[in-house]
Parts: sequence; C-alpha cells; structure tokens
Amino acid sequence: MITKCLFPAAGYGTRFLPATKVMPKEMLPICTKPLIQYGVEEAIEAGIHTMAIVTGRGKRTLEDHFDVSYELEHQIRGTTKEKHLADIRDIIDKSRFVYTRQRDIKGLGHAVLTGRHLIGDEPFAVVLADDLCVSEGKGVLKQMTELYKRELCVIVAVMEVSPKETSAYGIVAGEWISDELLRARKMVEKPAPEDAPSNLAVIGRYILTPQIFDVLQNQTAGAGGEIQLTDAINAIAKHGKVLAYRFKGTRYDCGSLDGFVAATNAIYRQYKAKAAAPQ
Ligand code: G1P
Repeated sequence: MITKCLFPAAGYGTRFLPATKVMPKEMLPICTKPLIQYGVEEAIEAGIHTMAIVTGRGKRTLEDHFDVSYELEHQIRGTTKEKHLADIRDIIDKSRFVYTRQRDIKGLGHAVLTGRHLIGDEPFAVVLADDLCVSEGKGVLKQMTELYKRELCVIVAVMEVSPKETSAYGIVAGEWISDELLRARKMVEKPAPEDAPSNLAVIGRYILTPQIFDVLQNQTAGAGGEIQLTDAINAIAKHGKVLAYRFKGTRYDCGSLDGFVAATNAIYRQYKAKAAAPQ
C-alpha cells in the first residue's frame, strides 16, 4: 500500500518571474485552486493521506493553504460563500501534511533525498505539481498505485514526445511487455535528441521504493550539475525491476507558460461543464 506522497516544492519558478518573486510557483492559481492542490487531490483520490512536502525559503504560504484560516472561517460562516471553502476543508480533514526544508537547491534527486525522514522505510509516490494531469477516468496516480499493488516495483509515468523535445525530460528506453508497460533498461536525464535512447519521456508522477534513498545518498551530480532522480532510477533499473507506464490522461506542463495557459483552459472548461450539468 502506498500511503505517502512526496511533493518537491523548493524550486524558484524563475520562468514565472515576476509572479513568483514572493509567491511560490506551486501557489499560482489554475482557475480557483493553486497548482499544488490539484496534485494533492490526485494523491487523495489514490488513497494517499500523508502529504510530505519538501519546501524551501519563502514557501510558507503553502503551509498556510493546507491549514485552517480561522479569521476567514469566522467571517463567512453561515453565508453562501462558505461553499467555496468546502474542497479545501475536505482536503485538510482527510490528510496529514508534513514538511521539511531543502536548504540548497541541488536537483530533484536531492529534493527526494531531503524528504527521506518524512517517508521512512516504505514505498511512496512522488508528484511534481508543475505537471498537472487530467483524466476522464481514474487519476494518473491512482492508475499507478493500483499497478504497484500488482507489480511491487518502481514505476514511472511516461508519454511520447517529439524527438526535438527530449532535452527537457528524463528519457526511458527498454522493452514493451504490454500495450502500456515497458520494462525500463536505460534512463537518461535531458539528453540531446541525437543522444536520446527513445522519445519516451518521464512525467512528474513516480512510485518509488525506499531503496532509492540509499542510491541517492551515494550519487554524484549528473545533468546540469544536479543530483538527478532519473540517474538513481536508472541505477535501480540496471539490477532490479523498473516499469514505465503509459498513463491514461493528459499532462500539462505548468512550468511553461503555454502549458499553464492550456491547463487553465482545460480546467475552466471542466468548471463550465460542471456548472451547466443538472444538479
Ligand atoms: C523533471 C525531471 C525529468 C522529468 C520532468 C517531468 O525535470 O528531472 O526527468 O522528465 O521533471 O516534468 P524538470 O522539469 O524539473 O526540469
């Protein structure tokens, strides 16, 4: 059973400056909810109730968001506005939020390692809130936790990208064992198109086993001079089982302006459809 989800959330969000000068990028709203709330909701849907958030300096509003706001509650109690707090109240009631700070920004692998004491010795999920996933049926993380119950190994969510985009992703190659599952043999972080072993890109959804921490502990810096999660998973794939899962749904890269706007439009359409549906 996967009971914990780790959210690396210490990055600066420089691509969204000046909006992210004082506001954490995870708090940028997609319609009425901050980006990270979509990830938390996806984790709850997957049956996960402990959210382990790796934050950094200037990220306190994240903690405040997932806490009660007494003044606000008091102010709107008994009014029609109360319904706007229903979703976030429900999240707070259902979940436990634990935090740690990443002092130096040394890469995704380093962020995951920083969260080690929040996770302990059990398998866990990782969500990169920048990647907002929308699906018609089960959420992507739920698809993956169900798969984990059967396969009991490291799982990464993947999608095909155009060959010229490989340098923005962790790229995975291996052999297909079914329509949606590939046994990963090789993973490379952000390869140039000519060095990419495939065009299958890892998105920000992972199921990891605690073995990853020992690997990360002893790992040297990789692409971009950072401790890369992709390199640690690659090390596990060499000796153990790592599956790449072609998820059902659409992923929006909210770390880019185009993706952010596309996600906003998609979520807006959902709101409208919901509002128009008979109650
Ligand atoms: C990170 C990972 C990369 C992955 C990507 C998915 O990169 O390092 O392997 O493909 O997330 O969004 P980042 O986008 O943080 O540079």
